Amino acid sequence: MTIDRVKILDKRVLFVGGKGGVGKSTSASAIAMAASKLGKRVLLVSTDPAHNLSDLFHTRLKGEPKEVVRNLFVMEINPEKESERYIANVKKNLEGQVRATMIEEVHRQIDMAKTSPGADEAALFDRVTSLVLEELDRFDLLIFDTAPTGHTLRLVSLPEMMGVWMDGMLERRRKTNEHYTQLLNDGEPVEDPIYQTLQARRDKFRRVREILLDSSMTGFLFVLNPERLPIEEAKRGVETLRQHDIPVLGIIINKILPDSVDGTFFQKRKEQQLVYIEEIKRSFRKLPMVRMELLEEDISTLAHLEMVAGRWSSLME
Ligand SMILES: Nc1ncnc2c1ncn2[C@@H]1O[C@H](COP(=O)(O)OP(=O)(O)OP(=O)(O)O)[C@@H](O)[C@H]1O
Ligand SMILES: [Mg+2]
Repeated sequence: MTIDRVKILDKRVLFVGGKGGVGKSTSASAIAMAASKLGKRVLLVSTDPAHNLSDLFHTRLKGEPKEVVRNLFVMEINPEKESERYIANVKKNLEGQVRATMIEEVHRQIDMAKTSPGADEAALFDRVTSLVLEELDRFDLLIFDTAPTGHTLRLVSLPEMMGVWMDGMLERRRKTNEHYTQLLNDGEPVEDPIYQTLQARRDKFRRVREILLDSSMTGFLFVLNPERLPIEEAKRGVETLRQHDIPVLGIIINKILPDSVDGTFFQKRKEQQLVYIEEIKRSFRKLPMVRMELLEEDISTLAHLEMVAGRWSSLME
């Protein structure tokens, strides 16, 4: 039996994921709009480098929240810009902590780190972390419209990996400090701003991880279509999230052919979709599912989006 509802309104943070083109941005936007109409103050954030929320809402979006409809704020995070900002910040934090003769070399090293694989992702993650920690005070619901699956899963599993890595760094730093204390400072503990910075970051990751793992606050929604590849990708995604204990809230089966379409060609496709829908029900047995029909046109105007949002209002409890 499928449950045709998904508990969204009591959550504070939602991630919407799935394979490319399945309808993540459309679903995230429709949910955001529906929730705002139901009285929630909502922030919709795109973390996809290939943004389409500006197109969907027909407005220029930047890296800060912009109210597009009453109580619905939208923003886009640009990973490359975040990376630049992040690097500038690291350099600034190091000012006064590194000897003047070393500063050029340190900056050169940091600039090199910027081009390393994963740097943009780490910066993006840092911004998502800050948003979750800071904006929950101002908004009832944060919705992240994410890039296709692999990227997003790394994003949500990062707090765990970063936590382990930072603990290692902190431990090494602590040992070094202990040495210095004994050698140079007659047993008086040395002040170490780098240790303090690391510790602050570790605490930040810890706090965001607590929120991400708390199923009463956070949920991950997978969008798929009744087709083979999106199903496979969602299966892998759900499995990975479970391994990381990240709560999966439900499945959105999008682009289902409506009953009203006819003709032999569509009859065949509808039959095939039914087979896939059965497979979806079997594969994601314990998860709530909602169904969305394929509409006649792309969802590209606010009026269109409002229509889809109207349908969502009755599905999200
Ligand atoms: N139920 C639907 N009926 C008709 N068109 C739809 C439906 N859902 C999505 N679309 C259309 O399909 C296209 C892809 O949707 P969308 O941009 O939401 O997908 P996405 O998963 O965010 O893609 P990407 O991975 O590129 O970010 C868009 O043109 C959108 O208007
Ligand atoms: Mg998208």
